[in-house]
Amino acid sequence: MANNYIVKFTPEYEIDAPTTAQIAALLDESFPDTFDGRTYFKQLPHFRSLAFEGETVIGQAGVDHRVIRAGGKIIRIFGVIDLCVTPAHRGVGVAGDLLKQVESLALASNVDFLVLMGDVDTLYIANGFRRIDPAMTKWLAVEDVESVAVIERDLSDCFLVKPVRGESWPIGQIDMLGYLF
Ligand SMILES: CC(C)(COP(=O)(O)OP(=O)(O)OC[C@H]1O[C@@H](n2cnc3c(N)ncnc32)[C@H](O)[C@@H]1OP(=O)(O)O)[C@@H](O)C(=O)NCCC(=O)NCCS
Repeated sequence: MANNYIVKFTPEYEIDAPTTAQIAALLDESFPDTFDGRTYFKQLPHFRSLAFEGETVIGQAGVDHRVIRAGGKIIRIFGVIDLCVTPAHRGVGVAGDLLKQVESLALASNVDFLVLMGDVDTLYIANGFRRIDPAMTKWLAVEDVESVAVIERDLSDCFLVKPVRGESWPIGQIDMLGYLF
């Protein structure tokens, strides 16, 4: 059970070596054969929401603070990246809690939407996210830690958003103004 943890927000540059090692292990366990020992897949996040039970990291979400273009409007987002919880602590709401705390920070921070890419919806729909469809999106493709191209594709199978202060998502083309988290 995971009823005795605290959630901390930490800028990426302040994360110490022992915590970095724990994050790398959690990511590797949660997304096997993906991270190659790194704590990021494409790029470092700006900060992380970390769930600690004592000194142990039991869950994490990277957060990218960014402006993107949607339907011709420039909007401020928190992009939620690589949300995961250690297997022993799954199913008791830690991931939902991490999402809620990121949303509270967004509300206090002049951020309009939470955005994430997720292919399994249950957790996100239960936490107030909805799919954007269509979601014709342009982004900087990064592969094996190298920029390869700017590509454009319909991401309606994974593009999820949650308004932070009641605004409607601007309909139209999306430009991530950077890599796709
Ligand atoms: C997905 C994950 C973060 C959920 O963490 P959690 O703390 O157990 O989540 P919560 O307890 O807050 O919510 C549980 C819900 O997550 C849903 N869920 C399980 N696996 C999921 C997945 N891979 N993606 C999305 N939702 C998932 C379940 O349907 C569950 O809902 P239910 O209890 O109504 O059935 C965790 O299972 C995990 O780390 N998985 C491996 C990494 C991963 O797939 N991350 C998501 C990337 S999009």
